[in-house]
Amino acid sequence: MKLKLLILSIVAVHIINAYPNQKQLHTINLEKRRFIVANNENPIDIAKSIRQGVIKKYASYGTTSNNETSSNVTTSNYETSSDVATASNEITPDKKKDQCTLIVNDIPQDIGYYVKIAIGEQEFKVLLDTGSSNLWVPNKNCTTIFCQSTNKFDPSKSKTFIQEGNPWSIQYGSGFASGITGIDNIKIGCVTADKQIFGLADGIISIYEEFDGILGLAFDSLNTIDNGAPTLVSTLIKQKKISPIFSFHFQHASDHDDKGVFVLGGIDKNKFNGTITFSSLISPKGLPKGFWAIKQDDALVNGKPVISSARTAIIDTGTTALVIPSSDAAAIHEKIPGSKINDDKDLYFIPCNTTAVVSLRFGGVDFSIPSKDLFLSQNGAQCVSAIIPADLFPVSNVWLVGQTFIKNVYSVFDVGNKKVGFANSK
Ligand SMILES: *[C@@H]1O[C@H](CO)[C@@H](O)[C@H](O)[C@H]1NC(C)=O
Ligand SMILES: *[C@@H]1O[C@H](CO)[C@@H](O)[C@H](O)[C@H]1NC(C)=O
Ligand SMILES: *[C@@H]1O[C@H](CO)[C@@H](O)[C@H](O)[C@H]1NC(C)=O
Ligand SMILES: *[C@@H]1O[C@H](CO)[C@@H](O)[C@H](O)[C@H]1NC(C)=O
Ligand SMILES: *[C@@H]1O[C@H](CO)[C@@H](O)[C@H](O)[C@H]1NC(C)=O
Repeated sequence: MKLKLLILSIVAVHIINAYPNQKQLHTINLEKRRFIVANNENPIDIAKSIRQGVIKKYASYGTTSNNETSSNVTTSNYETSSDVATASNEITPDKKKDQCTLIVNDIPQDIGYYVKIAIGEQEFKVLLDTGSSNLWVPNKNCTTIFCQSTNKFDPSKSKTFIQEGNPWSIQYGSGFASGITGIDNIKIGCVTADKQIFGLADGIISIYEEFDGILGLAFDSLNTIDNGAPTLVSTLIKQKKISPIFSFHFQHASDHDDKGVFVLGGIDKNKFNGTITFSSLISPKGLPKGFWAIKQDDALVNGKPVISSARTAIIDTGTTALVIPSSDAAAIHEKIPGSKINDDKDLYFIPCNTTAVVSLRFGGVDFSIPSKDLFLSQNGAQCVSAIIPADLFPVSNVWLVGQTFIKNVYSVFDVGNKKVGFANSK
């Protein structure tokens, strides 16, 4: 089976889940079908379906939102300022206590990243997703196509399992999961969360099969399980198993010598140079609370600012690309020689030999995306841009900042201080 592009767009999903009255089930089959189309080799179809998935979610949100949510994000949303901490002080525990490092696995083409966890001693591969908060794995009795190739949790084989039995569901850009809740001890790396609530999924539709489940790493308020149940990270913090922080170095699949790391409870000083620049979390009107959302100062092409105004960036390790407002996408691509929009005006092409470097500015510091990472896929001499235009009405000026950016920095998610930090990866 061949994997294409993973844009979970889990971000958008939460927005739907903020309005639980809305029935989404009827759209599932269509979505599945569309992604089967996307599994053809056509890189343009793939990129288009990704884009459509994101838009659809936000559009659904729009139809159920109140008036307040349609206000644009303005600079008044950015009262908290960014600040800088050096790598050598504050949050860097030299002691390995309260800290645990896991090796991250890469799904081909840097589509997504997963780690292994053990629930009641049964092992699963879970996708790392800072854009959602649900943790789920397939239930023993799941019979959907997805479950034919995954590990499944067998409650009867765990002595520590407690069936809670509450129904839950969540929709992603790439699929859907639903089931009941359970409680068990969950081991991740060298730490174990005791009596963690998680989802046992028997209704799963997904176009991807490289993982078993998803590990949501956003805040509790976005957890659709038990309407805001503590996430795995929350439980580990509460049980004092880790310090309230986690961080990543994501590898490029093309670089075989590099290993990605997920550090629970700390940061890995060997994986970045210089200082970490932190930005405080913001919560603009219209965006449900609980995302890793920060102020983005600007975007630059070859070092020159092209937006010159602030945006809200949702830092989402579960999204592959950058999905951004169409006027911003136009401003950026205009500065990349030879780039052009397609006839449908929903994707850009960039010459595959471009030397343009796009950077995002956070906390006054520019972090670069190298030219080779500006592409989602190749279509002859033209490459499909990883910067996808989509106006995600009604929350304007929101950038979904996915792996195109994140895999090129060391990223720190400071739960305790509600900040996101970036440093130059090495
Ligand atoms: C939303 O705005 C419209 C027009 O501005 C108004 O008629 C309507 O009552 C408002 N709805 C809510 C829920 O406030
Ligand atoms: C948001 O901003 C855009 C562009 O500046 C403008 O066209 C639109 O009317 C604004 N929407 C709202 C709800 O203020
Ligand atoms: C699987 O088992 C759970 C728990 O016993 C139950 O709630 C659910 O309906 C079952 N699903 C199927 C597809 O049999
Ligand atoms: C980062 O550190 C490595 C090894 O110490 C060094 O070779 C490289 O030049 C540094 N890069 C930057 C941007 O400082
Ligand atoms: C990219 O390739 C095209 C076509 O071969 C060529 O005209 C152009 O100069 C190249 N650009 C760069 C930056 O190498």
